[in-house]
Amino acid sequence: MCGIVGYVGKRDCTDVLINGLSKLEYRGYDSAGIAVFNKNQKIEVAKSKGRLQNLVDKMNADGKPMGNAGIGHTRWATHGEPSDVNSHPHSGGRVTIVHNGIIENYKEIKDYLTDKGVSFASDTDTEVAAKLLDYNYNGSPIKTIMDTIRSLEGSYALGIIFADHPNVVYAVRKESPLIVGVGEGESFIASDVPAVLEYTKDYYLLEHEEIAVLDNNGVKIFDSFGRPIQKELKTADWDVEAIGKGGYEHFMLKEIHEQPTAIRNTIKPRIKDGLPNLEECGITPQVLREFRQIFIVACGTAMHAGMMGKYVVEKLAGVPVIVDIASEFRYRDPIVGEGDLVIIISQSGETADSKAAMHLAKEKGAKTLAIVNAMGSSIAREADMLIYTHAGPEIAVASTKAYMVQIAVMYLFAFEMALAVGKIDENECRRLVSLLEKTPDMIENLLEHKETTQYIAATLINADSLLYIGRGLDYALSMEGSLKLKEISYIHSEAYAAGELKHGTISLINEGMPVIAVATQQALFDKTISNIQEVKSRGAKVILVCRDSYQPEQNTADMKFGLPDFDDMLMPMLAVVPLQLIAYYTSVHRGNDVDKPRNLAKSVTVE
Ligand code: F6R
Repeated sequence: MCGIVGYVGKRDCTDVLINGLSKLEYRGYDSAGIAVFNKNQKIEVAKSKGRLQNLVDKMNADGKPMGNAGIGHTRWATHGEPSDVNSHPHSGGRVTIVHNGIIENYKEIKDYLTDKGVSFASDTDTEVAAKLLDYNYNGSPIKTIMDTIRSLEGSYALGIIFADHPNVVYAVRKESPLIVGVGEGESFIASDVPAVLEYTKDYYLLEHEEIAVLDNNGVKIFDSFGRPIQKELKTADWDVEAIGKGGYEHFMLKEIHEQPTAIRNTIKPRIKDGLPNLEECGITPQVLREFRQIFIVACGTAMHAGMMGKYVVEKLAGVPVIVDIASEFRYRDPIVGEGDLVIIISQSGETADSKAAMHLAKEKGAKTLAIVNAMGSSIAREADMLIYTHAGPEIAVASTKAYMVQIAVMYLFAFEMALAVGKIDENECRRLVSLLEKTPDMIENLLEHKETTQYIAATLINADSLLYIGRGLDYALSMEGSLKLKEISYIHSEAYAAGELKHGTISLINEGMPVIAVATQQALFDKTISNIQEVKSRGAKVILVCRDSYQPEQNTADMKFGLPDFDDMLMPMLAVVPLQLIAYYTSVHRGNDVDKPRNLAKSVTVE
């Protein structure tokens, strides 16, 4: 959603805040702002609508706040349009704050404060929290924060400064993530580790309603009753290079190229003697045999990885799998309970709907398994069992490498489950695992031949709308290909099960409409080709993603992206790469901001 940072130390605070915000811009980027204690110990605020660069340009023109302590924010608007006045930080008089999350009862509080004569400049819930803090302020920041958070409903991570406590930064959180970075003679707060990685790898994970105080003596943390507590200092295993573009034009392209390494890092520790081994994640054959059905609950791309998981688990292990969009699952009173496994897939581990779905599953007595990329995130901490994907930080808003490792984990899980329930024997399981181990090398090869995807993308740039079609695993993959294209190219697209088109959607096909057909499943190949001919004969321009060995007849495809011969079941791990690249190059050709598509944010911590 939004990204927040804070700093206390000896460095130029504005530089540290801007640098930290630049690593958090993936969380939101419609406005940015900072508040810094200047050399006269007064709070100076600079903020601007638009990208972080607008704020930098503004400060270059007007002068930047100079000091050693402050807070900063990059916003994804929830209450109030993106504008200078709605940008954070917001001030309540003596108190200035930055906020990530949503204060659900902000209207009630606003009415209460308005009755008391308090006035408001912005439309935000954040200003309400700032004004409430100021209203409650009694000279003791910790006591004021404790009193105030009792009145706040919803989610928040707050960075707070008090005008009469110069060079001290306070922080508190509920639901929204917040870490406290600890360096040599300096300390930080941030929504996510990458914001501080350049300065320190050591950090505390702030828990619900804990209050952090950062000053020139270091960091102190208090519980919600104001009692000092000791916390375990964690060390991030990501390095600074992982959060740079490494010579690539965009993070998305870099992350597409990181997929082979991400797969290796994710599967290697979970393979022992050629067989899957998820014991360190709490998953044993005995545990797996207990489940009568599985739910996979997630949002967006992560949900598409779940679709892939459904096909593979059902096919191999013969256990029924229901895939649900988290925002639907949580409100449809699902028939789930003891004896069921609910798998939550999430890159960020903070997605509000996925988190709520997990809580519901637990309440109903199901066991939960989280497949998460972000270390220490809420979903990772709260699930009964946990498989971390080791994709490293994913910065581009459009997910690529996180999706790839989510499906790699789904494969491993399916292999282990199939073995546990006796649907495959050890030999077959070893064969499947060794195929999975081959995928990184095969993807590396594919990435050496990107020209075809560049060419295909060039033919799409003026399209108004297109379709992705496929059957079985190829249908699951089409959903992801279509989402990737629309979110970064802004071209409308839909994914359809190829056999479903003729039940209505085929009427959309007109002369020259692009249709991307994914046909990697040999058992379904002829069926898909028939569906392709149906659209081709109605004027569609067909781009076929299939095995290279297939030579399309004249009336089948206009363009082809050829894939190497490989096992049907694992084919999607290869086929997703051209789909990602087609989306990427289409966005580049259209001159879009690939890494930060409009209206989106990386981590969706609101409903
Ligand atoms: C699309 C994309 C989103 C996320 C979705 C869930 O490229 O990244 O659809 O997959 O918002 O996010 P996580 O995985 O963080 O729960």
